[in-house]
Amino acid sequence: MSIGLDDVIAAETILSHVDGEAGRLIIRGHDLEELAGRVSYEDAMALLWDGLVPLATDARTALGQGRARAFALLSPLAPHLRGLTPVEGMRLLLAALPDSDGAPATLAVGGAAVAAAMAVRGAQGLSPLAPDPAAGHAADLLRMLRGATPDANEAKALDTYLVTILDHGLNASTFTARVVASTEAGLLSAVVAGLCALKGPLHGGAPGPVLDMLDDIGTADRAEAWLDAAIGRNERLMGFGHRVYKVRDPRADVLKGAVSRLKGRDNRIAFAEAVEATALQVLARRKPGRRLDTNVEFYTALLLEALGVPREGFTPLFGAGRTGGWVAHAVEQAKTGRIIRPQSRYLGPWPAEAA
Ligand code: ACO
Repeated sequence: MSIGLDDVIAAETILSHVDGEAGRLIIRGHDLEELAGRVSYEDAMALLWDGLVPLATDARTALGQGRARAFALLSPLAPHLRGLTPVEGMRLLLAALPDSDGAPATLAVGGAAVAAAMAVRGAQGLSPLAPDPAAGHAADLLRMLRGATPDANEAKALDTYLVTILDHGLNASTFTARVVASTEAGLLSAVVAGLCALKGPLHGGAPGPVLDMLDDIGTADRAEAWLDAAIGRNERLMGFGHRVYKVRDPRADVLKGAVSRLKGRDNRIAFAEAVEATALQVLARRKPGRRLDTNVEFYTALLLEALGVPREGFTPLFGAGRTGGWVAHAVEQAKTGRIIRPQSRYLGPWPAEAA
């Protein structure tokens, strides 16, 4: 038995592999570093989907159409976003998309981008912006979210981020999506379920709290005392630790590189690096033998902050990128034709034996 399913193999996949000892992420035969920053999100998604999810046209056009179709379905719901956090708003919007659409895969990924942007704006009381189906997916997502058209460097940074988080083995949200897909509930249902699993702070909800931590620490000289006290209170340091990686998460370095290429971030990165180095020392001292290192969320926080995304919008953007992975896994799982149905060990009382 394995509570938490550590080391349990619950699916076979051709999609991605996480090597936690080597600090390596392989996507369809490519190391992450060969893809992130080198190919667009659309092309990485098409690679991931190859042979599993057919596309009627090239991936960029198909996703543009998906965003346009999703916006037509979702924009009337904008008034319902008031009072919801962005991730709650995104959940509401994705749940309104039909499982029965003719092109559910691109509706899901296009819809996740539209829903993320709408939900971030809706939480600020702003009306939604229509997609530009001809634009690149990352650039259009950032424009729909912020209002202003991003420059080429900003669009490239978000594109790098979206590719970096496209897929990652059988993580909690992907497993959730596969469970739902295994019941033949439909693709959009699997994606909604994935987002629900992603939103927790132990998974995709961590990057906002990373910035809260950096703000609270304030200056590098306060880092050691702050981090030590947090561990003393039994708190988890956000952006550190991982179930599978026992060394540094390779996605952290890819994202650190991407944020370093944006202008005006040198001081912020230097401060974050100082906090990171101190956190690793404190964790090694206070949690010896646990092999805790930096995960993807630490530099995600710095990247999305640099792009002007409000911190409550970080998880929706993670969901927008990961939807491409959830879709591929849901389709792969559904093809097995086998429902995921594990067992539990009963610890409760037994009925009294009949006399
Ligand atoms: N800060 C401090 N201590 C930690 C941290 C952390 N970030 N992560 C794990 N530990 C400690 C635990 O307290 C535990 O210590 P103990 O042996 O004294 O009880 C030990 O390390 C093992 O912890 P587990 O809970 O068994 O580790 P698990 O593999 O279940 O947790 C997780 C992985 C949830 C990611 C954890 O490291 C964590 O909570 N990190 C902080 C949140 C975070 O950054 N989440 C994003 C993860 S990346 C992603 O999902 C996209």
